[in-house]
Amino acid sequence: MRILVTGGAGYIGSHTLLQLLREQHDVLVFDNFSNSSPEALKRVKQLANADFEVCEGDIQDSVRLSDAFGTFKPEAVIHFAGLKAVGESNEKPLEYYAQNVSGSIELLKAMERHDCKRIVFSSSATVYGEAKYLPYDEQHPLQPTNPYGRTKHFIEEIIRDWAASYRGASAVLLRYFNPVGADASGRIGEDPNDIPNNLVPYISQVAVGRLKHLNVFGNDYDTRDGTGERDYIHVEDLARAHLAAINFTGETTGCEAINIGTGQGATVLEMVNAFESASGRSVAYKIGPRRDGDVARSLAAVRKAEKLLGWKAQLNIDDMCSSTWNWQFTNPNGYTQK
Ligand code: NAD
Ligand code: UD1
Repeated sequence: MRILVTGGAGYIGSHTLLQLLREQHDVLVFDNFSNSSPEALKRVKQLANADFEVCEGDIQDSVRLSDAFGTFKPEAVIHFAGLKAVGESNEKPLEYYAQNVSGSIELLKAMERHDCKRIVFSSSATVYGEAKYLPYDEQHPLQPTNPYGRTKHFIEEIIRDWAASYRGASAVLLRYFNPVGADASGRIGEDPNDIPNNLVPYISQVAVGRLKHLNVFGNDYDTRDGTGERDYIHVEDLARAHLAAINFTGETTGCEAINIGTGQGATVLEMVNAFESASGRSVAYKIGPRRDGDVARSLAAVRKAEKLLGWKAQLNIDDMCSSTWNWQFTNPNGYTQK
């Protein structure tokens, strides 16, 4: 199938791209490289031993989008492109609304102009906000607590309205829990530009010696050991979920929101231990205060993904930590050669 992938050079996009190519799909990557490197695409080509098209552009640029749709004529879109840092979204909310929300509207307009009716969108568990109950199922109220989360919520609603108004359209909103890990080859992985905000990239940079110690954000939560508990999902499993979702859009019309997680939680200290075992390195940490906006626990209800997509996570915490370590150890500076 011909699939246009926005943000395909990024962390989750590059892993999904690899699986799409291995399944013989024709792909065009549309990316402005604002948070990624063309090197990731080069490596995906090598790993898949397959070629694909690349269009450098911003999803807010309707002319560039139209050109890409006009020449490539995609049958479906996987939409990863967007900004994703919670803290930055508090400082630059308009930038987040412009790139994420307006950019998504331009994309949907281009799809309609070119008769493309199938989309899979990268949403986030962050749309749920404070848990009213756990695990979060897809019916849980949506109350995101920061501008980034609100952009995801608004885009979900926009896509839902678009799908309802456009005959034959089909959309899947994948609500990712906490994506971590890397491809087993160690050739592609998560490469944060700055000091990582998220736990696993931070731990791996401590293990490799780039950072001194992990700051554990609070050990007084109501969890097994007092540290925050999350539902980590291996990026390879997550990539597979996109292929299942694309197939699903071929069988249905309308719009479905679907959680993508394992249903199992791990605390910060459990992740530290798992990472130490996987890497054979020690991970120094200091207990510090809670981070503003953090919740104690986040866990996915996974039945809907199993029922509608026939998808279930297969990889565990050890796989997540060992693949992250393999990527970090062989690429201590990510895609930048130093
Ligand atoms: P990423 O930053 O690695 O990838 C995003 C890609 O989109 C990058 O290649 C970037 O250059 C590109 N991009 C950004 N703005 C663009 C624009 N305006 N036009 C064209 N390209 C643009 O992020 P990721 O971790 O791979 O996340 C992918 C998607 O999944 C994002 O929408 C993110 O919000 C969502 N998501 C990520 C996580 C996570 O923990 N990584 C969790 C939940 C949801
Ligand atoms: C964060 C984002 C969320 C986003 C998700 C993507 C915030 C408030 N939330 O969620 O919107 O969808 O990433 O994966 O930024 N931790 C530490 N020390 C660190 C980093 C994290 O102790 O240096 C702890 C956190 O307190 C949390 C756990 O590790 O308990 C996971 O944190 P993180 O990886 O940032 O993910 P989330 O907080 O779930």
